[in-house]
Amino acid sequence: MKDVSEGAKPRKLLVLYGSQTGTAQDAAQRIWREAKARGFTCRVTALDDYPVANLIHEPLVVFVCSTAGDGDPPDNMKIFWRFIFRKHLPANSLAQITYAVLGLGDSSYEKFNFVAKKLSKRLSQLGACSLLLLGLADEQHEFGSDAIIDPWLLQFWGRIMENLPLDEQNRLNKNDTLLPASYRLHYMDSGITVKESGNPEYETSSKTQSQLPTFLASMISNERVTVEDHFQDVRLIKFDIYNSGLQFRAGDVVLIQPSNLPSMVEEFCSLLKLHPNKLFILEQNYEELPLPALPRPCSLHYLLEHVLDISRVPRRSFFQLLSRISCHTDERERLIELSEPTGLDDLYSYCNRPRRTTLEVLQDFPHTAAGLSIDYLFDLIPVIQPRAFSIASSPLVFPDELHILVAVVQYKTKLFRPRRGLCSSWLASLDPTKDPIHIPLQIRPGSFSFPNGPTPIIMVGPGTGVVPFRAALQERQAQNKTENVLFFGCRNCLADFHFQHDWEEAVDRGFLKIFTAFSRDQEQKVYVQHKLLENSKVIWELLSKKEACFYIAGNAQQMPNDVLNALRRVVEKEGGLSKEEARRMVSGLQDSKRLQQETWS
Ligand code: 2AM
Repeated sequence: MKDVSEGAKPRKLLVLYGSQTGTAQDAAQRIWREAKARGFTCRVTALDDYPVANLIHEPLVVFVCSTAGDGDPPDNMKIFWRFIFRKHLPANSLAQITYAVLGLGDSSYEKFNFVAKKLSKRLSQLGACSLLLLGLADEQHEFGSDAIIDPWLLQFWGRIMENLPLDEQNRLNKNDTLLPASYRLHYMDSGITVKESGNPEYETSSKTQSQLPTFLASMISNERVTVEDHFQDVRLIKFDIYNSGLQFRAGDVVLIQPSNLPSMVEEFCSLLKLHPNKLFILEQNYEELPLPALPRPCSLHYLLEHVLDISRVPRRSFFQLLSRISCHTDERERLIELSEPTGLDDLYSYCNRPRRTTLEVLQDFPHTAAGLSIDYLFDLIPVIQPRAFSIASSPLVFPDELHILVAVVQYKTKLFRPRRGLCSSWLASLDPTKDPIHIPLQIRPGSFSFPNGPTPIIMVGPGTGVVPFRAALQERQAQNKTENVLFFGCRNCLADFHFQHDWEEAVDRGFLKIFTAFSRDQEQKVYVQHKLLENSKVIWELLSKKEACFYIAGNAQQMPNDVLNALRRVVEKEGGLSKEEARRMVSGLQDSKRLQQETWS
């Protein structure tokens, strides 16, 4: 590890992030803010928005990266990723930089923080000097990612400040860490009308996302597909994409930007005493921070309905900032308690465990909320990130439509109001039979790719995990590829057997073999992995003789591991392999991408 005091001592820091859902971007912007408070010249940007050739001129770089899908880098660092892993890069090409890597991940995924780990190794291979050990934040940590990020950042600043101590002026700044807000909301005179829906004129947003073509699709139908008394409301939603130019194939995902429910926007406005129709233009206070995508001018109503994520559980940094802004003594004291490192337990019980929303927290601090300077909203509340849904249809069968299947997320905690997933509840609330509904859609590749040729496929998809397989089967039927096997699992044949008629039709036409596990239709639980074991011969035949590809999709709790274990037992039994040989064979399939997983928690 390097002494950052070597040579000249520029107080200069570059923060680069690769972020799929905005979490890594938040963490990167937090580091930027802390760097500013310590008197650093600091820039923060997405990896693919940074000219990578300039890296050799940077003394100190922090990389903040999440891991998407099956161990893949997020979309806004893909170009950087290809560059940094080029074979011919000289061994010492990054010898002058000192770096730190903070990974954001979720240990319920097999490839936990894979991108951060791989990047850190590669930077060291290229001669860069590590400032401190890799930070591996984990969403599954009982106190959330901050429980890892906070101590890691303390160590990070400790190492830097040892070598670059603060001068008198900056020491003053640090003690008074309330920096000016990132943006100013410049109110407009009344009389200007704002486009509330449709495709507003956007300022620049995150470059890679705004580069994806967007199509304003109209919703054709929004139909509940599970029976009324089933525990889960699952919707089949169809969009009209006629003339959109959107191109996609099986395995791709559609990005949907949800909005807050109107009732929440109303509550928020009355709490902060905001006039929703007021128009403003957003201006930067720091040129390093890109302007978020907003219409110009924008109304407060638009900002609160479509931009700021007031329904998310706030992070510790929210309480820290709020405590500095609050003018109410009692509320400020409580906010300080919740935001101190010693208050993690308290914060967790108050906020994370019951899944309290930002709006609900602000309602608990009404004086602070009412006195809040609106300019700080962007620093307090992250913007709503688009959600990715696997596409359930193929354009080869439905050229003018795009289908998704959405499980409406709703659960109880100790709080009175049930918790609801922002995007799924918002989608479920839309009724195209009452009003025309238009939603901007973007397409990006998912983690699955299906074979181009006639190679057989084996698909394991319990619950809504089955969605990408409907698209795959449609595509393969249109291409006359006949060897398709599906293992599907759900609770009851009559309650949540998604796309039953599609599968039956494909079976009748000779395009599909299906094995079903209805877990609650009998005393004993029956799961897809049991069906795999029962039908081991079919699987082995396809894997060993026909080079079949194997896909697992669904909830990441226990299912993917159980299915992988079952697959190991199948190859052990049918191939006459030892345990170790079976394990190696299955990991060989993973390495060669003949076995792919798309799981979520
Ligand atoms: P259960 O709810 O009856 O336990 C889709 O969610 C289906 O996946 C349900 O039938 C569910 O069964 C089942 N399931 C739950 N845990 C599983 C696991 N570890 N492996 C495979 N299927 C599982």
